[in-house]
Amino acid sequence: MLLPPFFLLLPFLAALRAQPARARCRTQPGDARFPSRAEWDRLNTTVAGRLIAVVPSALACAEARCNDAQWSSALFRDGIPGQMNAYNWEQLCLYNTTDGACAQANVPLFAINATLPEHVQAGVAFSAQHDLRVAIKSSGHDYLGRSTNRGALLLWTQYMKNVTFTSAFIVGGEDQGSAVTVGSGMGLRAIYTAVQAQGKMVVGGTAATVSAGGGYIQGAGHSAFSPMFGLAADNVLQFEVVLADGSFVVANAVSHPDLFWALRGGGAGSWGVVTSVTLRTFPTFTAAIHTATVLFASSADAAAGMRAHATHISDYDTVRAGQYFYLFSNGPGENAYLQLNTLVINASADAATQLVAPLLADLVTAGGTLANQSALVAPAQAIVGFADDRAGYNTLLGSRLVPLSAYTDAPDRIEETYRQLLDFGVGSILGHLLGGGKVAENAVIDSAVHPKWRTAKTHVIATTTWADSTPAADVLALKANFTATVLPLLAAMTGEPDSGAYSNEADVDEPNFRTTFFGAHYARLSAIKAAYDPRSLFVVRAGVGSELWDADGMCTVAGSTARV
Ligand SMILES: Cc1cc2nc3c(=O)[nH]c(=O)nc-3n(C[C@H](O)[C@H](O)[C@H](O)COP(=O)(O)OP(=O)(O)OC[C@H]3O[C@@H](n4cnc5c(N)ncnc54)[C@H](O)[C@@H]3O)c2cc1C
Ligand SMILES: *[C@@H]1O[C@H](CO)[C@@H](O)[C@H](O)[C@H]1NC(C)=O
Ligand SMILES: *[C@@H]1O[C@H](CO)[C@@H](O)[C@H](O)[C@H]1NC(C)=O
Ligand SMILES: *[C@@H]1O[C@H](CO)[C@@H](O)[C@H](O)[C@H]1NC(C)=O
Ligand SMILES: *[C@@H]1O[C@H](CO)[C@@H](O)[C@H](O)[C@H]1NC(C)=O
Ligand SMILES: *[C@@H]1O[C@H](CO)[C@@H](O)[C@H](O)[C@H]1NC(C)=O
Ligand SMILES: *[C@@H]1O[C@H](CO)[C@@H](O)[C@H](O)[C@H]1NC(C)=O
Ligand SMILES: *[C@@H]1O[C@H](CO)[C@@H](O)[C@H](O)[C@H]1NC(C)=O
Repeated sequence: MLLPPFFLLLPFLAALRAQPARARCRTQPGDARFPSRAEWDRLNTTVAGRLIAVVPSALACAEARCNDAQWSSALFRDGIPGQMNAYNWEQLCLYNTTDGACAQANVPLFAINATLPEHVQAGVAFSAQHDLRVAIKSSGHDYLGRSTNRGALLLWTQYMKNVTFTSAFIVGGEDQGSAVTVGSGMGLRAIYTAVQAQGKMVVGGTAATVSAGGGYIQGAGHSAFSPMFGLAADNVLQFEVVLADGSFVVANAVSHPDLFWALRGGGAGSWGVVTSVTLRTFPTFTAAIHTATVLFASSADAAAGMRAHATHISDYDTVRAGQYFYLFSNGPGENAYLQLNTLVINASADAATQLVAPLLADLVTAGGTLANQSALVAPAQAIVGFADDRAGYNTLLGSRLVPLSAYTDAPDRIEETYRQLLDFGVGSILGHLLGGGKVAENAVIDSAVHPKWRTAKTHVIATTTWADSTPAADVLALKANFTATVLPLLAAMTGEPDSGAYSNEADVDEPNFRTTFFGAHYARLSAIKAAYDPRSLFVVRAGVGSELWDADGMCTVAGSTARV
């Protein structure tokens, strides 16, 4: 028998090899296997009538006749199951210009308005049984759109608001001291109010409605008080979680320690549905907040100002103060202003003013004009717990954790980066000085918190926005341009080849999210993911295991090793 020469077989063999493994697609509306009306009704009975149909926030607000103040209030929007604070994530049009049907857009079909773990367990079991796409949401704050998905069943934890105090929280027989356990729907402001009544404080961010037990701590959780107390994830003692297999477990240092490790910094929404979190509490304290506004006539002056700011980056170390340094620009070349908020624990207003004075003097030397400054002392909770958060906008972020070395070794590069960002048209560059101090010392804690947090001095975010009237194609172009231009600039500013970013305040299109968001922890996180969620029930964009799925998390990608 005459065999064809081997080289003639090559294309055939190559074709065989290239044959992608058949994709696994989750059940979508319209599929024959999608749950019937009767099946949804049965689920509704199981969750005591707490199943609700979900619509985008614009539709919900049209029906409820929301006024403008309500539309842009995060507290008000918290009651709308389909809403995202950045409503661009509700709009499928952002990702898919060919899909003109934006009625349901990128919003789940149904939600379980859970108040008890059993409600979540029923939703998890139903989703697993029918192979549904799942979304988990508490507040809808997510800047990466990870808490909404079209065609999904939403496990909505906003109304899990139980609060329990203890003076001695026991883990594995050891007393961990004073702590508070809060439901995963509790916003920071509500938590601050509850702990203040007990003379306590927790480590939390500056916001009203961000949920401590939602995505905040799973991402790491930064606070203006972090230089003194560490990250929020460093101060968690326990989570209660509904797992992908429907079980309800406790994760702490001795029970499911691997899950406990992953939940502290391993990325939001990838591990299970958190129903409660236990936070270490501290005796409450007062803090001085010093605020100043410095005006710059041009982008070049503003960039020079940021060089001056860089040279003062360690001024606050001895008192472990935190600082937000937000630069707002009117456009390339145009005027800009720097808003400086410096928070100093246990300090007087005068002491805080003196602490910032050398920086303010140098900002003026660099060409800035000090428009105003003031300082006051207030209870810690009042300083970080805002009355409400502004919501209802279009936004995209790009960010980097910037190491101390970038400031000490290359202030010129800091100036140059700011100048380039402003020239590109970035309207706000939000700086968070909350690394160093206890955040660095807490490198000894074994958790999934990105190691870059431990060497970071600041977390810097560039943001962009656009008008609602901007055509979808232009939004896509703007988004692509932003990602392609801004991320490399921020990465270069760090001076590191493998720079890192805070996964909660970042660009969901980070090209190398595994390294950028999780660093060397990615392999261990993948193994924990495979153990706890082998069939990928909980997948979020740019989260652990998401590389196996398409952008919607609906179908596995070719060559994926996801279990079918
Ligand atoms: C105004 C504002 C201020 C902010 N301030 C700070 C700050 O000071 N410090 C800081 O570190 N960050 C801050 N953030 C970022 C914040 O940490 C993230 O947006 C975080 O993801 C919010 O979590 P959430 O649960 O409230 O939001 P959601 O949008 O509800 O969820 C965010 C992510 O967490 C997942 N998730 C939500 N609930 C659960 C749950 N119960 N179980 C499992 N997964 C869940 C979602 O699937 C999603 O992936 C701020 C954000 C905004 C909009
Ligand atoms: C679930 O049941 C409740 C109570 O019977 C009902 O009000 C609600 O409309 C039902 N939800 C759906 C999605 O049908
Ligand atoms: C866009 O939407 C259409 C219709 O829903 C779908 O067939 C197509 O696959 C989508 N494309 C992308 C890139 O998601
Ligand atoms: C969700 O449940 C809470 C608590 O029972 C209730 O106050 C709220 O109105 C419900 N929201 C919706 C949209 O059903
Ligand atoms: C609230 O917490 C307490 C104490 O842990 C518990 O007994 C109670 O059942 C919880 N309530 C809800 C609604 O979860
Ligand atoms: C603040 O001052 C009080 C009173 O001197 C002290 O007990 C407390 O430990 C201080 N808090 C911090 C965080 O330093
Ligand atoms: C400080 O100055 C800025 C710019 O002029 C202004 O917008 C802001 O309201 C002022 N703040 C205070 C507290 O006066
Ligand atoms: C990106 O934006 C810059 C500045 O706005 C512009 O000059 C450039 O042409 C844009 N590039 C693309 C590919 O759109």
